[in-house]
Amino acid sequence: MNNTVFHNYNITRQDREQQLKQRGLVLWFTGLSGSGKSTIANAVEQELFKLGYKTYTLDGDNIRQGINKGLGFTAEDRTENLRRIAEVAKLFVDSGQICIAAFVSPTQSDRQQVKDIIGTDDFIEIFVDTPLEICEKRDVKGLYAKARKGEIKNFTGISAPYENPENPDVVVKTENKSIEESAREVIKHIKPHLKSKNYE
Ligand code: ADX
Repeated sequence: MNNTVFHNYNITRQDREQQLKQRGLVLWFTGLSGSGKSTIANAVEQELFKLGYKTYTLDGDNIRQGINKGLGFTAEDRTENLRRIAEVAKLFVDSGQICIAAFVSPTQSDRQQVKDIIGTDDFIEIFVDTPLEICEKRDVKGLYAKARKGEIKNFTGISAPYENPENPDVVVKTENKSIEESAREVIKHIKPHLKSKNYE
């Protein structure tokens, strides 16, 4: 028992959504390291921004240098990393914003935890489906080479699992597609979810 009681504030989520003329929502990008999550998320955010939506992006590589500094890549640390991110994303939803989150989020159970925290109504799961061979060939950050040499432990796809999402809302197959095409596909799928009926 930590002796805290939840305090309800008078300005509600609904008030904030009405003011912003949009609904709070999480767009959750999952996929291997180097699959293109952050790049596509960035392009999607740019497009939403142009359309006038209030957005904010949370990204694994960035968040791990700040709020989650000190967490590593063991299964336990990833679970804690994602739990905290889900709680932060939930605050963004409550603030009426569209929170774009790009995290490897490798296991079903970790993604389920995220969904449970945020709530399925406010959560869109986007699977950036790039085969391991391609991610490894691109190896933009040089991490796959290091992982193969054993210099990075628990590397997703090499020495740690990635479980494909079973029922994602959107699947983007990035092979032979430009970033713009992938982003357009995502936007097409999510557009109907962006405005709540109350604010159209
Ligand atoms: S998650 O598994 O906890 O969701 P997260 O998205 O925050 O991962 O961080 C992944 C990023 O950290 C990768 O894009 C990569 O740049 C870097 N990274 C460093 N070590 C690892 C590792 N062992 N496995 C996966 N990614 C790693």
